[in-house]
Amino acid sequence: MKVNGMNATDRSPHWRPAALMDIEVIYDIQCIVHADYPEAREVLLERLELCPAGCFVLERSDVVSGYVLSHPWRRFSPPPIDTKLGTIPKEADVWYLHDLALVPETRGSGAGAEVAKLLVAQARQVGYQTLALVSVNGSQGFWERQGFSVRKNETLAGKLAGYGSAAVYMEYDLVGAERR
Ligand SMILES: CC(C)(COP(=O)(O)OP(=O)(O)OC[C@H]1O[C@@H](n2cnc3c(N)ncnc32)[C@H](O)[C@@H]1OP(=O)(O)O)[C@@H](O)C(=O)NCCC(=O)NCCS
Repeated sequence: MKVNGMNATDRSPHWRPAALMDIEVIYDIQCIVHADYPEAREVLLERLELCPAGCFVLERSDVVSGYVLSHPWRRFSPPPIDTKLGTIPKEADVWYLHDLALVPETRGSGAGAEVAKLLVAQARQVGYQTLALVSVNGSQGFWERQGFSVRKNETLAGKLAGYGSAAVYMEYDLVGAERR
């Protein structure tokens, strides 16, 4: 439906697939939200190029206020921060959420939960059994509310080192979630 020439959906924030041209706004949001652990523009752009199906932006009236970048990856093997992937491994066995970030004014509206559900549904549809991420920035409680749990093993500690002392590796078990 159009109201005054505007789609009804244009007036409320909604997630849409990210395009390569969104890289500048994604990078700008990242620099605000993750000022302590910034990644290079090229690193974010590579995620968009390697897996466009895993990347979305939160938009309202042509203004982007959040993004999520995700891609297939190897379980228990979070990539080092601020590092290009090179390629998506053939043996990928998790859908990995590289980053979800909303500008502060957009938080608390349910947008984060909405896109987490979207990615869970998408990972299930393409046949993955697990989603994974590294929780930073005090977001562990948010991810727990979305059904993720902390996982620990001896190899993870070194891999998490660059993410800050409070970082934890978390997974969502799609098979277990179906049984519940
Ligand atoms: C974390 C983030 C994505 C959450 O998005 P959001 O849209 O604000 O969250 P929602 O409004 O969808 O909240 C969903 C639920 O999680 C809870 N929640 C949100 N942030 C939380 C947090 N940091 N800790 C604990 N619970 C949280 C909400 O209260 C809500 O609870 P409810 O289910 O009882 O209603 C957002 O705050 C953000 O961008 N933070 C900065 C970047 C960041 O930390 N990203 C995560 C990197 S791993």
